[in-house]
Formats: sequence, structure tokens, C-alpha cells
Amino acid sequence: MASRRPWMLLLCCLVAAGVVLQGRAQPDNKGFISIDCGFSGETGYVADLTKLSYVPDAGFIDTGTNHNISAEHVTATMAKSWYNVRSFGAGTRNCYTLRSLVPGLKYIVRARFMYGNYDGLDLRPVFDLYIGVNYWHTVNTSGPAAMFQILEATVVVPDDFVQLCLVNTGAGTPFISGLDLRPLKRTLYPEATAAQGLTLVDRLNFGPTNETFVVRYPDDTHDRIWFPYVDTVRWAEISTPQMVQTIDDDSYDAPSAVLRTATRPRNVSQNIEFYWSTEPTPTNPSPGHIIVLHFAELEVLRGNAVRELNVFINDKPWYTFSELSLRPVYLYDVPVHKSLPFQSSRYNLSVQATSNATLPPIINAAEIFTVFSTTNLGTNSQDVSAITAIKRKYQVSKNWMGDPCAPKAMAWDRLTCSYGAIGSRPRITGINLSSSGLNGDISSSFTNLTAVQYLDLSNNNLIGSIPDTLSQLPLLTVLDLSGNQLNGSIPSGLLKRIQDGSLDLRYGNNPNLCTDGNSCQPHAKKKSKLALYVAVPAVLLVVIVSVTMLLICLLKQNKQGSMDNSITPKIETIMSNSTLNNVGSDSSLRRLESRRFTYKELEMITNNFQQVLGKGGFGYVYNGFLEDGTQVAVKLRSHSSNQGVKEFLAEAQILTRIHHMNLVSMIGYCKDGEYMALVYEYMSEGTLQEHIEGTNRNGACLPWTHRLRIALESAQGLDYLHKGCNPPLIHRDVKATNILLNARLEARIADFGLSKAFNSNDTHVSTNTLVGTPGYVDPEYQMTMQLTAKSDVYSFGVVLLELVTGKPAILRVPVPVNIIQWARQRLAQGNIEAVVDTRMHGRYDVNTVWKVADIALKCTAQSSVQRPNMADVVAQLRECIELENGHSRDNANNGFYASSNSNDPNMSYDSYTTDQSTNVSPNNTSFEMEKCLMRVPTVPIGSAAR
Ligand SMILES: *[C@@H]1O[C@H](CO)[C@@H](O)[C@H](O)[C@H]1NC(C)=O
Ligand SMILES: *[C@@H]1O[C@H](CO)[C@@H](O)[C@H](O)[C@H]1NC(C)=O
Ligand SMILES: *[C@@H]1O[C@H](CO)[C@@H](O)[C@H](O)[C@H]1NC(C)=O
Ligand SMILES: *[C@@H]1O[C@H](CO)[C@@H](O)[C@H](O)[C@H]1NC(C)=O
Ligand SMILES: *[C@@H]1O[C@H](CO)[C@@H](O)[C@H](O)[C@H]1NC(C)=O
Repeated sequence: MASRRPWMLLLCCLVAAGVVLQGRAQPDNKGFISIDCGFSGETGYVADLTKLSYVPDAGFIDTGTNHNISAEHVTATMAKSWYNVRSFGAGTRNCYTLRSLVPGLKYIVRARFMYGNYDGLDLRPVFDLYIGVNYWHTVNTSGPAAMFQILEATVVVPDDFVQLCLVNTGAGTPFISGLDLRPLKRTLYPEATAAQGLTLVDRLNFGPTNETFVVRYPDDTHDRIWFPYVDTVRWAEISTPQMVQTIDDDSYDAPSAVLRTATRPRNVSQNIEFYWSTEPTPTNPSPGHIIVLHFAELEVLRGNAVRELNVFINDKPWYTFSELSLRPVYLYDVPVHKSLPFQSSRYNLSVQATSNATLPPIINAAEIFTVFSTTNLGTNSQDVSAITAIKRKYQVSKNWMGDPCAPKAMAWDRLTCSYGAIGSRPRITGINLSSSGLNGDISSSFTNLTAVQYLDLSNNNLIGSIPDTLSQLPLLTVLDLSGNQLNGSIPSGLLKRIQDGSLDLRYGNNPNLCTDGNSCQPHAKKKSKLALYVAVPAVLLVVIVSVTMLLICLLKQNKQGSMDNSITPKIETIMSNSTLNNVGSDSSLRRLESRRFTYKELEMITNNFQQVLGKGGFGYVYNGFLEDGTQVAVKLRSHSSNQGVKEFLAEAQILTRIHHMNLVSMIGYCKDGEYMALVYEYMSEGTLQEHIEGTNRNGACLPWTHRLRIALESAQGLDYLHKGCNPPLIHRDVKATNILLNARLEARIADFGLSKAFNSNDTHVSTNTLVGTPGYVDPEYQMTMQLTAKSDVYSFGVVLLELVTGKPAILRVPVPVNIIQWARQRLAQGNIEAVVDTRMHGRYDVNTVWKVADIALKCTAQSSVQRPNMADVVAQLRECIELENGHSRDNANNGFYASSNSNDPNMSYDSYTTDQSTNVSPNNTSFEMEKCLMRVPTVPIGSAAR
């Protein structure tokens, strides 16, 4: 597929000279390296389209020659970086070295090739590429000379550098046009591991009908290149101007610019079908495949419209979705991925509507990879640095490129390596540089080759004395220094090793070398004295410099220390103040008239927006302190935010008029020119989501009693919104991330940016756009676009399920499945244990868990009339808390908790009273009664705090 649009690559990589930069052999501030190979300029340039800086390749390689492609292949639209190549007529292996990387991090390595008859021979070479010591791909340039090839690998880099090596396989001279490196977030492409790299087969953007519409940096922050797959005959475009987010931005993170278009069959009864073909590679007869498909709904579905699809590969279902059918989520990407074994040379992929669907299938984007093994390890890194220093010092040419020992077939001439067990790095054990024209003294780097057994430096022009440090090489058995111009005497350490028979030292034919100790003494002494004179000032200088550095560091530290000192007491007073405020009541904060801040004041309050507390669609939330020391959270609207000015002002307006202990309170706002911000009370324990996930600061699991209390408090907040304020409000984005917790883990509903007022006499509000978060959106609202307070009830039901299960609203098992489906299925079998959060280790009253699960299921009933209202939910949750507290009290009265055997399940038999079974869910069976008897007593954590 890559070859079907060579001309397009021309356009996509359109680069023109702009600003001139200095060539640098290291990543830029984004971690990018963009190399124009064979570019003979001293300085690089900035590409017009991407604004990325391209540098010449001289800093990355010291072999090869530069050539311009022949004039007939240069076109007007062609990117400058294609004009020239570096080619490698000499040496089997030639390598680019990209440095200053982070070992263990994931990178995209992208190599670009266009032959362009640069050598005038019109012979299309075929050669191999290696990433480090692992075979990656064969480049075959047969085909038109003007054909472009872009090869992309995603690899975990084991060292602080990575090499791209071109290997001559006897089928023409290797060359390269360009080389890019892009760092990836560690979590992206989990299939790329230390043992396995990914080779891109294709990365497709579906929907655009303009073949030149290529998405890359800056729309894709990782500068992946997304080509449009255009088939205007069979497919029609669907698109949205809105931002499309990805649910799982940790794994594939497709950019909104790609996701906001999708394709559907023109003929609604047809499927979306495409194929790709693959071949075995020289090193792997059956390379596996990784496929990632991106689906996001871009249309608001009205009435009973259903879009539901299945994916088939070579006519076999990819997943049997059945009741877990894939329904694209509005404005959210649900990436689905699959690893395929190699089956055939051709894969047909088909996206089909299910029988329930009323709408044709869609697809937004696809990425297809093959895998290659990266299990070969490079030589021990200390050996590599030492031998590299030796190579540089003596200007050894030979074939000393790439890794010294690996792969075995390409190991450096004159080196002997040991390979050891699989998974261990090769070591250099022997060096034969006899008759190699070496000049200068014996490099101290030889001392660093600690696995060396055999070192032959005979018949060169080495001068100076023999370093005694060579005697420290533990395994060295043969050292041949004969036939050089060495002087001085044999150092004592080496003499000792000769005497104890552990070393065979050959030093004949060095006319100036004193093998008779006495006659050399004076000469040697003089020399060493001179060396001392030279050495003393040098050492002094070093000492002086170090002392100065130390002083500077100390001063710096002191300064920092004093700054800290001035801040620390302030924080302390702030803490005590706000604690006092909190302990009394929050009234002092709550009665504050909303204050208007200037942007300057916000800068001061947040100490120049130093500490980020969180991030949302609107931008960042920063930590801050008011003049009186009150800690606050400042939500600053970013200019690129998709939360508009309208939403921001709506939230400010709402918050100035509603006050409730379970709604987050606003202290003020800022509307200063283009800057907009809201200032809230500080909620030190973050979001409920973090606590459910266990990613909160202390990583502790929330005990059930806390969960119950948080549920009740959030419910009270929502009930107030629905009934208590005038006009009533529907929150529209109830979810675990919008429930914040303060230092005492008291819950407050936050983020009213989407809230909508409604007239309490009306049953619903009609809306034009669907808002909310996938997993939490009321299906009835989604279908009818009619909003009622029951939509919040539905979302709250999802939060309740999260509290019970400790799982997210959308589970990946491995197909994305809604928590409601997941829990309902298990609860229907009467199996509460299968859903309840195992991290609570059974420390809950099964009755209250059942009751909460039951409330959650009622809240998430398909039809809104069947759902309770928030007032009912509040009442029910109160009962749960009473039930739970009743238990704690009973148990405490029994002295149960005092028992050191309190974890012994047998002990809990006594504490169970059968009359409480009336509170369990109607789904309950006698089987559950058994379960109840087995429960572990509830630890009364938190009741004191109330
Ligand atoms: C390639 O072309 C550039 C610009 O025309 C020129 O400066 C450079 O010397 C040429 N390089 C070679 C190797 O011919
Ligand atoms: C390169 O590709 C051409 C045509 O695609 C093919 O005929 C040739 O065998 C390939 N060469 C190698 C060495 O794979
Ligand atoms: C396609 O896009 C390019 C630039 O992105 C534009 O110059 C061109 O006019 C577009 N072609 C059509 C047919 O819209
Ligand atoms: C699809 O339709 C069948 C029968 O028409 C029904 O049983 C099933 O529940 C539906 N599936 C979904 C996911 O709606
Ligand atoms: C020897 O190795 C050490 C540790 O890796 C390094 O700090 C030192 O610079 C090396 N010395 C030489 C001469 O290569």
C-alpha cells in the first residue's frame, strides 16, 4: 500500500528553506531529531510546513559521501530534504548514531529513501537496515527512480543512543535521504517492547477526499504521518468541526485532526473494505501483525438510530461483539487493537454493520504494523566506549562501524568477542592491532576493556612508556608490545604478573625500552619530576575550579534554602488558617462575595502558574494562595480550549448563585482581556476518580464506609442542583472526575461548565448538541436529545457502580464494555462478589453493598421514568449508611473489633443477624445468604471523622 501514492509523499514532506539554524547532533526541545542526509550545508533549516528544524548529517556519521539526486528527478513541489543523499560505497556496514536519548524510552525511527539516480548509474540498489544490532528491514529501490520510500519503526531504545545501520548485501550501494527520530510517551504502543519493534505497514486517515490532506506535526504531537485513504467512488466522508478526544490516550493517542473525519460506504447496505499484503522477511518467515482501528461517532444519532459494527479479517470475525457490540461513541475515539499471527500474504479487512444497526458502518483511522525481533543485545557499553575511544585515537578505519561485536557476522575486524548466554551483552575478549600503523602513546582506554584476554599492539609506531594500569586487566594473559618505539621501563605491576606467571608480556624490538632496571633509573626519574611540575599547577587549577564550583553551588543552595525558609512558615500559617476555617464551618469561604481577579493577581496567587494540580479540556488547574493564605485552585482557560467562553461564563454565573456544602465553591473569577479563569476553594484530596483508581497521593484504597459517605454527599449535591436552587440545574457531566474531595474526604460536585437551567414545570430541555462523557451519558438523552434531571441520575448510577467495583466507567476486557453491562450481567446471577472491589478485602457489609449496587442499577435503567430521582437516591443512601453504622455499633458493642482474631471469618457468624436480609437486593437468593455469613466484619474507619 505504501507504494500506491509515491507522488503524495512529495507533497507531504514539502519542506522549504526558511530560517537558518546551527547543525546540532542532538535532539531539539521536543526531543525530535530531523536529519537531511547528504545535505552539504553547514547549518540546517526550518521546514515551512511543519516548522521542524532539519539538520545536516555530518554530526551523526563520519563515513559516506554526499550526492545530489539527478536534476530530472527534482520537482517544484518536492521537499528540499529529498534533493540529496549520502551513499556508502565503502564498508559493509555504515551507521548513523543518534545520541542523548533516554535508555528504555520508546522512539519512532523514520528513514527516508529516494534513489533519484544520484550516481548516474541508474542501478536500483537493494540493501538492509539494522536498528542497532537487530535486522529491521530490506530496502528495495527497484521501481521508478523517483519513487519515495518512508520506513518507520517504533522501538524501545536500550541505551542512551541508537544507531541506524545500512548494510551492503552485495546488491548495490546503500544510500539514504533522511532520518528522523521522535520520542513517544512510554505508554504508547504497548506492543513495542524491549524484545519487539513495530514496522509500520500503513497509517491511514479515513474520510478526507483531498489526497494531499496529510496530518503530521504539529497536529500530531508525535509527528506520525497520517495519509488519507481516498476512495470517493465507494466511500463518503463524515466529519465534524468539533474536537474528538480519545478515551485511551495512553495507548494509541490518535490526533483529533485525524479522528474528526470518518468514512462510510456510499451504498448504505455495503461494508467498508480494504486490504494490505505482506511478505515474510529474511529473518522471520511469519512476522506477526498488529492492527489498531479507531472508531469515533461524528454524528448525533437521532430517534432510534443505531450505529453498531463488527470487524472481519479474511472473513473471520475480529471479535464477536455480540452483546458487547461496538457502538462508536460520540466525539470519543475508542481504539480497538489486535495482534494477528502471520496467516497469508494478503489481509482483507471488512467493517460491517450488525443486524441491529440502522446506520452504515464507519471507520476513522487505522494503523497496521508488522513486528520484528529486537532481542539481540549490543556489546557491553563500557567496552563500546573504550573501543570507540581507541578507534578515534588511532584513526582505525577498517570496518569499525556500528556495534563492535554484534551481530556476530558483522563484528569488527581484529576483535574477538565472547557472546555468553542469551540475554547477556557480548564482551570484547581479544584485540589484534598488530601492524596497523598505530601512532602515539598507548591509550589508557585499553585499561577499561576489562574482559580482554589477548592484546596485540605489535609492529606499530607506539611511543611513550608502558602504562602500569594494564596490569589491572584481570583476564589479560597475552600482551604483545614488540616492534614499537616505547621507552621507560617495564612497570612493576606488569613485572609482578610476569613473575607469578599470569601474563605473557612480549616487548622485544623496542630500542628505547630499558629492560635493565638500573641503567634507566635517572632518565626515568627526570622525566617523572618534569611531569610533576607540570602536574602540580594543573592539579591546583582543578582544585581551584572545583572549589569555586562548590562555592557557587553552596551559594545557590543557600539562596534556595532561604527562599524555602521564607515560604515554609507562610504555608504553615495558611494551613492553620484554613484548617480553622474548615473546622468552624466553611461559611467564611462560602459567604465570600465572588471576587473579580486581574490576570496579574492570578500570576501572583499562583506564583506564575507554577504548580499544576490537574488538566481538563479547558486547560490547566493551578495551585495558588490568596493574600490571606487561603489555598485555592485556579482554573485557567487555555486559548486552544474546546470549552468555549460561553461555558466558562456559564460556570462562573452558576457558581456565584449556588451554594451548598456538597458543591465546590467559587471564590472568584478573572476576565481580563483574553484571559479567563475561575478561582475555587482548594480540594486537597483531588478527584474521586483518583481514589477509585488508587492513583491518589497515598495510593490507599477507599474503605467502604468512606465510599458510602462520598456517594451520599455527592447525591446531596446533585439533589440540591435539581431541586434546591432556582432555577434548577442539570449538571450534564456527572462523573468520578467531577467529584472532588477535600482534606477530610468530603465530596463536592465540580465543573458546572456544561450545566443547564431548566424550568421545574417542564419535564425536559431540548438540546442541539449532546454533551457528557462516554460511559456516563444517558442513552435516552443520546437518542432523544431531550435532557432531564434523570440524565444526571443515570450518570450518578455509573459513579455508584465505580464506587462498588473500583472499576472505570468503560472497562477494557479486552473489548470496551460499559460498566453497567458488565455489572448488570454479574449481578443478575446474584454474584455480588464478582463485581465488588477486591481491594476492600471483604471489609464491608454485604447488605449495604447489595443495596448500593441495586440503587446503581435502578439509576441506570434504560428508561428515565424507571429511574429514581436524586431525592430518593439520597434517602436510600442514608439508609445504607445507617445500616452500615448500625453494624459498626453492634459489632463494637460485642467487643468484636477488640478481638485479635477479627479477621477469622468464623468469628463473624455471631455478628450476622438474619433480619437484615430484608435489606438485600431482590435478586438475592439463599446462595447469597451463605455469602453474607462468610463476610469479614466492617472496620469502623471514618465514623469518628463524622
Ligand atoms: C548539490 O547541490 C548544491 C546546491 O545546488 C550544491 O551547493 C552542492 O555542492 C551540490 N553537492 C554535490 C555533492 O554536488
Ligand atoms: C526488488 O524488487 C523487485 C521488484 O519489486 C524484485 O523483482 C526483486 O527481486 C527485489 N530484489 C530483492 C533482492 O529482493
Ligand atoms: C487539497 O488540499 C490542498 C492543500 O492541503 C489544496 O491546495 C488543494 O486545493 C486541495 N484540493 C482540493 C481539490 O480541494
Ligand atoms: C440486537 O437485536 C436482538 C434481536 O433483535 C436483541 O436480542 C439484542 O439485544 C440486540 N442487541 C443489542 C446490543 O441491542
Ligand atoms: C573508563 O571507564 C570509566 C567508567 O565507565 C570512565 O569514567 C572513564 O572515563 C573511562 N576511561 C577511559 C580512559 O576510557
